[in-house]
Amino acid sequence: MKLILLGPPGAGKGTQAKRLEDKFGIVQISTGDMLRAEVAAGSPVGKEAKAVMEAGQLVSDDILVRMLANRLAQPDAAPGFILDGFPRTVPQAQALDLMLEKMGLKLDAVIELQVDDAALVDRIAGRFTCAKCGTGYHDSFKPTAVSGVCDTCGATAFVRRADDNRETVVARLEAYHRQTAPIIPHYAAAGILRTVDGMADIDDVTAQLNAVLAE
Ligand code: AP5
Ligand code: MG
Repeated sequence: MKLILLGPPGAGKGTQAKRLEDKFGIVQISTGDMLRAEVAAGSPVGKEAKAVMEAGQLVSDDILVRMLANRLAQPDAAPGFILDGFPRTVPQAQALDLMLEKMGLKLDAVIELQVDDAALVDRIAGRFTCAKCGTGYHDSFKPTAVSGVCDTCGATAFVRRADDNRETVVARLEAYHRQTAPIIPHYAAAGILRTVDGMADIDDVTAQLNAVLAE
């Protein structure tokens, strides 16, 4: 199965991608996670991306297209993948079409998680992840079962993203509406766009995704 999860910052792309990974045995490819790893490693790409990400702007198409092409060529992507955070601009969507055509692959679906802008700021401001295994949580919507202990691996250290503050979220939302939303008609025209209500609770969104993918 080859999927794109599309939606604004905080829509639940990462949360749902992890669940789809487990259910279908396919890999999540999060360009945001890949860029954060580059920043943490202090690589040339990371050095270029750091300030751009912290300002809530998009990193250049050149960097992202190269990064994605390398990632799709890895053996673990062969059985299928969930793209989370790519494509994010019309040129990225066009580059992806070419890449998949060259690889002889076709997308099964592009799923848009629809969420009101007003809900997103609260979702992002409350988000944190396990420093060891990366499981995602939320102060109010998805706390750990035991305070301060990761449900998945038992670690006790957690991290919050540098771009998860109210000011940066506004810039990220603006970038989504201006640069990313214009790719939606591209996939609607191809007949593979599906939409789910991302305002529902996390389990309900998963149920909607499973229903859409079973069609
Ligand atoms: P990226 O890491 O992709 O961030 P994003 O798109 O802003 O999305 P988020 O990761 O913030 O949200 P999400 O949809 O994954 O939500 P989550 O599941 O965590 O990109 C970061 C930056 O990298 C960009 O700004 C850009 O600079 C750069 N970048 C990345 N890709 C790029 C590209 N292709 N081109 C150029 N630049 C690129 O959920 C959020 C919170 O809400 C969590 O706490 C969760 O527990 C909670 N939650 C989830 N679902 C629900 C629900 N249904 N109800 C209640 N709470 C929920
Ligand atoms: Mg994410």
